[in-house]
Amino acid sequence: MRKPRFRKLHYVFCAIIFYSVMKTTELKAFFSEYAGSFETGDADVSRNVALKHDHTLRVAEEAARLAAAEGFSGRESRLLARAALFHDLSRFEQYSRFRTFCDAESFDHGERSYELVREKELLADLPEEEQKTVLAAVRFHNRREVPADLSCAERKILLAVRDADKLDIMPILLAHLREPGNAAIVYGLPETGILSPEVGRALLAGKSPDNRDFKSSLDFLAAKFSWGFDLNYGWTCREFLDRDYMGRLRALLPEKPEILDDVLHRVLSYLKKKGERSC
Ligand SMILES: [Fe+2]
Repeated sequence: MRKPRFRKLHYVFCAIIFYSVMKTTELKAFFSEYAGSFETGDADVSRNVALKHDHTLRVAEEAARLAAAEGFSGRESRLLARAALFHDLSRFEQYSRFRTFCDAESFDHGERSYELVREKELLADLPEEEQKTVLAAVRFHNRREVPADLSCAERKILLAVRDADKLDIMPILLAHLREPGNAAIVYGLPETGILSPEVGRALLAGKSPDNRDFKSSLDFLAAKFSWGFDLNYGWTCREFLDRDYMGRLRALLPEKPEILDDVLHRVLSYLKKKGERSC
């Protein structure tokens, strides 16, 4: 028999879990309904609404795995789940209005998702401090650089969303390389097979190329090697290696230029080293 004090604690714990599960179900239902509201019957829009809807739900799953593997607390896991679910909320509006996922040709989708989450009061049930943490993760998940002035809590959740996002985008890109068909995935860039010198230079330096330098789908796809240097958690690095994302990417890109072999070698060494430790 549990003592009364422990029995009370047990009930409180169960109530928190129950509320959390109900809230997650409610928010996922909202998310799916919101995404569906952008359906127009147009096949191209439907395909890309579905692409981002399914991507988001998988990012939420990757985020939950990351949180478990990296020992996040229950509270941190719940904030991460919320940030993962809303990180790309503006993608549906973006594609509907501009028919592109390229921020430079439309709007900064992290910034717009942040605005939407606030406008729709999707975090109203959370204390202010927790709202700030989720909002920062949504707002900055797509920035080239992580802002330096974040709190520890904001940084922890943001880095996790960035990792979970990359874990799910890689298979989307690999599938596109095997069977190109949806040009929106590579921002509609032409398949010239030429790697721009600026992109090659950034990759060799272990830096993220500037999107404005992308002139071909090869630039866009090869730039994903730099994601290996931009992972934050040891678990994510190990997952990248186990799933062989970088090796599979190289195998599906053209043989030339050979610098891509060099880039692959560097990124694999980096991932092996970083995978040995955590964030
Ligand atoms: Fe995004």
